[in-house]
Amino acid sequence: MDSPFAVLGVDADADQTAIRRAYRQRAKETHPDRGGSDDEFKAVQAAYDAIISGDTPDRATTDFVENISRTEQREPGTHVTYLNYEVLDDHGWSIDDDDLFTKAAAAGLNETDYGRLTVDPNETLLEGAERSGHAWPYACRGGACANCAVAVCEGELSQLVDHILSDDLTAEGIRLSCNGTPQSDEMRVVFNLKNRPDLADLKLPGDRFSNAYAGD
Ligand code: FES
Repeated sequence: MDSPFAVLGVDADADQTAIRRAYRQRAKETHPDRGGSDDEFKAVQAAYDAIISGDTPDRATTDFVENISRTEQREPGTHVTYLNYEVLDDHGWSIDDDDLFTKAAAAGLNETDYGRLTVDPNETLLEGAERSGHAWPYACRGGACANCAVAVCEGELSQLVDHILSDDLTAEGIRLSCNGTPQSDEMRVVFNLKNRPDLADLKLPGDRFSNAYAGD
């Protein structure tokens, strides 16, 4: 198996700048929207994660191999690439950009704002995010607010209860993460939509319910 450095095409003693530059380039080259494959793209992401989290190249290689091994042996579930709505303005991106996730993958965002997680079968998207250590916004968990709303850019999310979203928002791919269960192997979602202007009136005060994004 190639080392993470080989996957990115850099020397084992490459500095952070070279590694980040190589990661951005390889992320563009291997992204499924640009003619690459999902496996290649995930391998590039795993390589970058292994390198930046490892203390030494050897340690990084070990982590990388273990990471891939875990990936190959993992339980069935939905693999979700997520992006925080709040970073779009900072980068001049639009939620309608066809290459939004390609740009996000190459932007060096932190794991709070961009990354991948797995939602287990029968888990809601919000439950999967929380189990993975994320603090995504919510309030009622009952389909009566838009605090937990996400935009589904790829894949399917069922909607057990929805008392709040208009037909237009639903047609646009907006769903409630608190009671939505993934129905596809892969998903891409933009989370933290609560501050979208057309959802602002649909929010509930979150501080009574939520430990996430206090003051929502
Ligand atoms: S938290 Fe209110 S509908 Fe999901």
